[in-house]
Amino acid sequence: MAAKKPGRLRHAEQNTASLFADACPLKISSQFDPAADVTLYAGDCLELLQSIPDEAAQLVVTSPPYNIGKEYEKRLDIDLYVEQQSRVIEECVRILHPRGSICWQVGNYVERGAIIPLDVLLYPVFAKLGLRMRNRIVWHFEHGLHCTRRFSGRYETIIWFTKTDDYVFHLDPVRVPQKYPGKKYFKGPKAGQYSCHPLGKNPGDVWIIPNVKHNHVEKTIHPCQFPVELIQRLVLSMTDPGALVVDPFLGVGTSAVAAVLHQRRAAGAEVVPEYLEIARQRVSLAAQGLLRIRPMDRPVYEPPPGSSLTSRPR
Ligand SMILES: C[S@@+](CC[C@H](N)C(=O)[O-])C[C@H]1O[C@@H](n2cnc3c(N)ncnc32)[C@H](O)[C@@H]1O
Repeated sequence: MAAKKPGRLRHAEQNTASLFADACPLKISSQFDPAADVTLYAGDCLELLQSIPDEAAQLVVTSPPYNIGKEYEKRLDIDLYVEQQSRVIEECVRILHPRGSICWQVGNYVERGAIIPLDVLLYPVFAKLGLRMRNRIVWHFEHGLHCTRRFSGRYETIIWFTKTDDYVFHLDPVRVPQKYPGKKYFKGPKAGQYSCHPLGKNPGDVWIIPNVKHNHVEKTIHPCQFPVELIQRLVLSMTDPGALVVDPFLGVGTSAVAAVLHQRRAAGAEVVPEYLEIARQRVSLAAQGLLRIRPMDRPVYEPPPGSSLTSRPR
């Protein structure tokens, strides 16, 4: 089989990153520093979390390893996996501000063809720590492995918890277009006025956002990075400008990118040095408005009917 060609965008982006790295306007620190714009910690997340003061973060958002044997993780007995996750979650709760939120993005653990939804396994850990669940957001995407003995998995979840009932939540910056924005009241005291909210509707708890596969403009060498727009929605709705966003399993820094794009501070840990270096380049490009991202308001691409790709060859 021919070797895979390196991703064009990936390399172009990395070249640009080194050209512009010196011009980065951010203060990037390798140890937690409350005065830094971004902390990129090279090592275990528990070490980073232990260096962050109590109640310092307004949002903890992450996608942990799923224990499915990806290149960056060792497959563990599932009870041990939950125990390890519990230790990280406990620290995340300690650093969480009373008005803050934790979003844990997970899929399924698969054991001999049987799936175990990780949010189901982890929910009791959060509940036991006194957190309140606000949404179980279904993130639906259209591409992934094709299964032959069950239906192909096309969603993962984000479980969103808060520490108290008095939590930060801004709906207006994340509203989406209505289906019928021109609809008006047809009777009553508001007859003739538009019935929809002028800024759009609540995005609901099923989010259709493309996952980062090979043709995605944000693709790096990481096998399962977040799309930036997924985290932008969480950052904009759950934090105020200047707030600290923490991602214990940072990967190539998508959470930090989303934070920087919206003038929030970020801190994250990553054990793979290559991923952390890409994270550094991405936040630096983001701060200079040079990182290519898929915009939050772009509709999901629908191929035009009748094109060569949407018609079966005769
Ligand atoms: C699912 S990926 C996260 C990807 C990330 N959301 C992004 O957009 O790039 C999980 C990441 O956690 C890292 N990791 C695994 N164990 C870790 C640990 N104990 N401390 C810090 N990072 C860890 C892995 O190397 C991997 O990059």
